Amino acid sequence: MNVAMVPSKKTEALASLEPLVEELMDRHLKERKLWMPSEFVPASEQMTGEELKGLDELRDRARGLPDSVRVSLALNLLTEEGLPHFHRLIAVHLGSENAWSRWNFLWTAEEDRHGCALHDYVRDARLFDMKAFEYLQYQYIEAGFDPQWHGDPYQLLAYTSLQERATQAAHANTGKLAAKYDPTIQRLLGHIAADESRHFRFYRDAFRGLLEIDSTGAMESALKVMPRLAMPGHNIAGYDDMADVVHRSGIYGPRDYRKVVQECLDNWGIADLKPVDAAGREAQDKMMAVPARLDKLAGLLERRMRSKSFSFDIIYQRVMEFDA
Ligand SMILES: [Fe+2]
Ligand SMILES: [Fe+2]
Repeated sequence: MNVAMVPSKKTEALASLEPLVEELMDRHLKERKLWMPSEFVPASEQMTGEELKGLDELRDRARGLPDSVRVSLALNLLTEEGLPHFHRLIAVHLGSENAWSRWNFLWTAEEDRHGCALHDYVRDARLFDMKAFEYLQYQYIEAGFDPQWHGDPYQLLAYTSLQERATQAAHANTGKLAAKYDPTIQRLLGHIAADESRHFRFYRDAFRGLLEIDSTGAMESALKVMPRLAMPGHNIAGYDDMADVVHRSGIYGPRDYRKVVQECLDNWGIADLKPVDAAGREAQDKMMAVPARLDKLAGLLERRMRSKSFSFDIIYQRVMEFDA
């Protein structure tokens, strides 16, 4: 760690960014269109005949959804349902009664609709063995999520930038595959992806603000999370297999993550930074080397990929076969 920026200094740096946070929040609110889960899957006491018929039709269409899309929806939904972990991390690292905490409340309210909307959809469309899914979700929350950030709030901002963009891609790509079976889920995933995209812009630009005031510290922290983005839930049984299915189905994998990293490096202008110290130059070189490193790892993974079959409780242990 850059000795000039010990954690308390980082807290001061974050406090100095509060005007920027307010500005980014204003921009966010101007661009946002608030939507509610029941606009996609109606669930009111009073429903029109058309809405009731729509639910039956939704269920019929959803029967056609391939198992790979179901697994991807399960993984996306689990990630969204990890919200208590993320809310807590943001609250712990960015404090309370400040612009960051106002953002945290706004962001949490928006994110909460994602898990809710997807949960309503998978329930009403009858996509899973619901108890098996609920059990997985329970485990996911109970397992906790304590990344080794050692109280470093910069790592949180790098992590959220990358994670928002990664989830945006996962939702949008799942939607593309699901579209020909059921346009409702694509429309819903499109709305969620658009939210993630705006969240990404918030965190990305907040992190850019950090780079302006402490480029060495910001880069050193980003380097701790960038080479391998640890998802909450990665230690849960079957999680890696689900991620493998999503990768093999062409929805989201290491090459997509590499694109996310590259996009951040470009947007943050890392290549053009002029660090004032040796530590900064070292961090800059290391950051610029991350995409090539990720490419190498992705290539290795692809070469090692063999035919494999998968089965999951959430879809009644139906066997899914994938060629190498
Ligand atoms: Fe989300
Ligand atoms: Fe988000």
